Order: sequence, then C-alpha cells, then structure tokens
Amino acid sequence: MLTFRELSRNEVESVWNIDRREVIDHVYYFENGALVLKPEHYDMQGWNPHEAEHYTPILLDCFDRGGWFCGAFEDEKLVGVAVLDNKFIGRDKDQLQLKFLHVSRDYRGQGLGKKLFQMAAEKARELEAKQMYISATPSENTVNFYLRLGADVTKEPDPELFAFEPEDIHFECEI
Ligand SMILES: CC(C)(COP(=O)(O)OP(=O)(O)OC[C@H]1O[C@@H](n2cnc3c(N)ncnc32)[C@H](O)[C@@H]1OP(=O)(O)O)[C@@H](O)C(=O)NCCC(=O)NCCS
Repeated sequence: MLTFRELSRNEVESVWNIDRREVIDHVYYFENGALVLKPEHYDMQGWNPHEAEHYTPILLDCFDRGGWFCGAFEDEKLVGVAVLDNKFIGRDKDQLQLKFLHVSRDYRGQGLGKKLFQMAAEKARELEAKQMYISATPSENTVNFYLRLGADVTKEPDPELFAFEPEDIHFECEI
C-alpha cells in the first residue's frame, strides 16, 4: 500500500532514487502556436548523470524557502515525488510552480502521478494561488499527461524558467 508524507530536508536528495527509466519515441515541440509531435528516440536508462549535481541545490533552495515536498512511499521506498515551489510567479504573481513530479517506472500508469498532481494543486489552492505553472519534459507521455489533467500551454512563459529550459513545454493549469 502506498503512503504519502512530506519529505524532510535530508530526504531531498533521495528524489534521485526514483526509477527514471523510460523509452521515449516521440517528443513535442511548440511551433507557431501549436504542439507538434515529432519522432525522436531516447532509451533513458536512468537520470542524466549531471541532473542530481545540477538540480539538487535548486531543490534545496526551494525547500529552504518553504517549498512543499511530498513523497509517495511503498513501505520505506520512495516511488513518487511532487514538489510545489512557494515563490509566486507570473504577471499577476498568482502562479506557483510545480517544480518536480516523477513516478518510478513500475508505478506509472496507475493513477499515482495524478494523485500527486492533485495534492500539489490542493496545496497551491491553500496558498491562494490561481494556477500552477509547469515546465514539462517535452516527451509525448509527459505532455499528454498534463494535457489530460487540464493544463494549457502558457501564452506567457515565465522568462527565467523559459531561459532555463527552453525546450520544455511550459504549461499553466487552473486549480
Ligand atoms: C508523467 C508522469 C508523472 C505521469 O504519472 P503516472 O502515474 O504515470 O500517470 P497517471 O497514471 O496518474 O495518469 C493520470 C491521467 O493521465 C493519463 N495519462 C497518463 N499518461 C498518459 C499518456 N501518455 N497519454 C495520455 N494520457 C495519459 C491517464 O490515462 C490518466 O487519466 P485518467 O485519470 O483520465 O485515466 C509519470 O509517467 C512520470 O514520472 N514520467 C517520467 C518522468 C516525467 O516525465 N515527469 C514529469 C516531468 S515534468
């Protein structure tokens, strides 16, 4: 049975224990105002080796300013994580970024990603945000997941987040 609880600071690095393996056959591009799906093959055997080194300090900064880190555990094993930043962004400063959402390979397709997404949305509502902002990996599965959950490609990408991940698909989602 899965249990959900907030992570402590010294558990933040355990997000890299999530099984990131994934075979990707198609990737989305946002071109001339539309999502275009193109064949591109990646057989991801795990996290990019630089990802932990690069992204851990960013996650710890988020934790230290009060970001919300929620883990899904099977017994003691972390199998899914959602992170909601608490720094308001957007023209009206009413968006909070869903900073991280990953489900281990063998736990995908069973509703866990949706559950974590909904828990993050509930937290964002508590903090009085109007929308969640998502800079999403452009792989077909990830983008289709966010579209299914009602996210829309944003017309006003956050300049800093867009500069950081220009190939991502930048979504906003009413909550
Ligand atoms: C993207 C990810 C978080 C989705 O989590 P998940 O647990 O596999 O998704 P769920 O089972 O909760 O699916 C939720 C809904 O999305 C739909 N969905 C999921 N994947 C889909 C896909 N590839 N195409 C269409 N719909 C999809 C499901 O059918 C479900 O809809 P329903 O509730 O109406 O039945 C997960 O697959 C993952 O971690 N992928 C790799 C890492 C990643 O890309 N993370 C996001 C970085 S921004």
